[in-house]
Parts: sequence; structure tokens; C-alpha cells
Amino acid sequence: MKILGINGSHRPGRGTAALLGAVLEAAQEQGADVEQVELAELEIGFCIGCNTCLGKAACALHDDMDILIEKMREADGIVLASPDYFSSITARMKSFMERTRPLHMVENALKGKVGGMVATAGLDNCGIEETMAAMERWFATHEMLVVHARPAGPVLGSGATATGFAGLDEEGKPIWRSVKRDAAAFACARQLGGDLVELAERLSGSRSCGAGSA
Ligand SMILES: Cc1cc2nc3c(=O)[nH]c(=O)nc-3n(C[C@H](O)[C@H](O)[C@H](O)COP(=O)(O)O)c2cc1C
Repeated sequence: MKILGINGSHRPGRGTAALLGAVLEAAQEQGADVEQVELAELEIGFCIGCNTCLGKAACALHDDMDILIEKMREADGIVLASPDYFSSITARMKSFMERTRPLHMVENALKGKVGGMVATAGLDNCGIEETMAAMERWFATHEMLVVHARPAGPVLGSGATATGFAGLDEEGKPIWRSVKRDAAAFACARQLGGDLVELAERLSGSRSCGAGSA
């Protein structure tokens, strides 16, 4: 069982990386092999729109995306992570997404794998749900199955979305915190990691039943 985390933040090791790390840590505790990839540490050029991938499952460009494509093929589950930039994913994450087209136009290689997403933002209600939706749409395009985690107990939000805004002080000035201190988001991230492994295991069980009865 392999779970691959892909971080689209321009800042490896910062808030978004930490939130993604919480997902992977929980998945590892459930027995998965996990790997966290920082897109900012890779050389991934822009898609050039040549449409090579319409005729064959290949890209005309060759850079670090070659390795990442293989990692995605081998993974049972993929977790995407991005900061909210102007109410969407970062340009780095979008560029990565465009380069995954060779996986889906001819062979739909990621079909049936499980997926999940996390996001961070400076503010509440300032685009983080659109950031999550952009990643969810990528999973849908690849016909993957998205896990929406809900930790036990009261409902605290709609996903693993960590923000830096912690309200106003008595004088009405904003109180800022590291997104790493958003406990509700980290609880949801950990739940996501466990749920991803659980769903992937269930799916692999049903796939072997199907193969055995054929
Ligand atoms: C160019 C830019 C655009 C941003 N746009 C938003 C935004 O629209 N809404 C928001 O709440 N935060 C926004 N932020 C704040 C980041 O989402 C936030 O600081 C995030 O946690 C950074 O993640 P990182 O620690 O992985 O870099 C923006 C930050 C930058 C640099």
C-alpha cells in the first residue's frame, strides 16, 4: 500500500508541508508506505500544449515529471496539498496538474486510485474552499475516488484546511498564528490519512475477489 503526497507550496517544509505530513504520518501508522514530494524541489516545466499526449500516453517534455509520473502510477493513493493563492491553488500545483495529462487522455492510468486534499490559507473565508475544489476537480478528471474525512466528535469544518487567522483581540486587532497551530485542521488531516488507507484496502480487497471469480 503506497500513499504519495504532493505539495504544491513554493515553500517546502512550511505550513502546507506540515499539514500534508500529518496525513502521511497517520497513513503510515495504518501500515502504508508513504512519500512526500515537494514540487518546489523538482524541475517541472510548463505544458507546451503540443498535444503529443492525445496520440500516445507520453509527454514530449522530459524533466522531473518523468519520475513523478512513475510514482503516481505505482501509488494506491495520492494526496494533493496547496496553499490558497488568490482563492485557488498555486501556479506550481496547476502547472504540475497540466503535466499529468499524458496519464489520462489515452489510458486513464489513475482510475480507481484513492485521493485526498489539504490546503492552508492566511484567512478564514478567503478562498480556501475554492483551493480544495480545484484539487478535487483534478481527482475527478482522473476518475479517482476522493476521501472527505470527518474526525469523530462534533463537526468542525469541511476538510483539512488550516488557516493563520485566530480571531480578533480585545482591541479588534487580528491575532495571527502559524497554520501549524490549527488543531482542528490537523485532526482532520490525520483522519484523512487513516481513511485513505482504509478505503484503498477495501478497494484492493474487492478487486482481488473480482479477479478470483472471473
Ligand atoms: C501570492 C499569495 C497569495 C495568497 N492568497 C491568499 C488568499 O487568496 N487567501 C488567503 O486566505 N491566503 C492567501 N495567501 C496566504 C497563504 O495561503 C498562506 O500563507 C499559506 O499558509 C502559505 O503556505 P506555505 O506555508 O506552505 O507557504 C496568499 C499568499 C501569497 C504569497
